Amino acid sequence: MSHPKHARAEHDVHELIQQRWSPRAFDEARDVARADLARLFEAARWAPSSGNEQPWRFIVLRRDPASDAWRALVSALSGGNQAWAGAAPVLVLAVVRLTLERNESVNPLAWYDAGQAVALLTIRATSQGLSVRQMEGFDREAARAACGVPAGFEPAVIMAIGYAGDPGKLSLERHRDAETQPRRRKALADFVFDEQWGRVFTPAS
Ligand SMILES: Cc1cc2nc3c(=O)[nH]c(=O)nc-3n(C[C@H](O)[C@H](O)[C@H](O)COP(=O)(O)O)c2cc1C
Repeated sequence: MSHPKHARAEHDVHELIQQRWSPRAFDEARDVARADLARLFEAARWAPSSGNEQPWRFIVLRRDPASDAWRALVSALSGGNQAWAGAAPVLVLAVVRLTLERNESVNPLAWYDAGQAVALLTIRATSQGLSVRQMEGFDREAARAACGVPAGFEPAVIMAIGYAGDPGKLSLERHRDAETQPRRRKALADFVFDEQWGRVFTPAS
């Protein structure tokens, strides 16, 4: 049976890609085993990167109201994100190394590479029945302070990770509604071109 959030793909797509989506509702009662988290980062580890620099870093925080770091990271989130992300059993701050390890010059591909690592992590999560929602809505300096990120590294996203939960438990109506709305995407013709910009790529030769 298909889930309302599964991709309505026009071409054959791998089931893990089809099934990955980003929930806001997480099951508060279901924790994520440390070994299962390690498998996610193992997937990120094997992502390609420019010059094999691997400019991504991840800081893992378990939901724990007694933890100063966890509370500080939740406080760093925008109001809209705080409305739901505090229920996720795990938050991960993804950080980018801004310069190359080999000569400390600026690494212009660092963000691109970190995104690839996170993409692999999200697909691995799907294969484990886990869900990930990334967030750009947070105060970078507050997140840096919460997790002790040193100079030369820049917070990129905070990921909420856990098992998808009951949308009815979300506090905001717009978030509850979004949880069952079909996912929308541009058509292939809008971003894939055949030899020249604007020339439609057709699957049939
Ligand atoms: C870099 C990045 C930043 C995002 N920031 C937020 C955010 O701050 N808050 C939020 O609720 N969702 C955020 N999202 C989730 C996107 O809105 C979501 O991935 C997009 O709508 C597509 O939905 P899907 O992942 O279910 O396919 C972010 C996603 C990415 C990749």
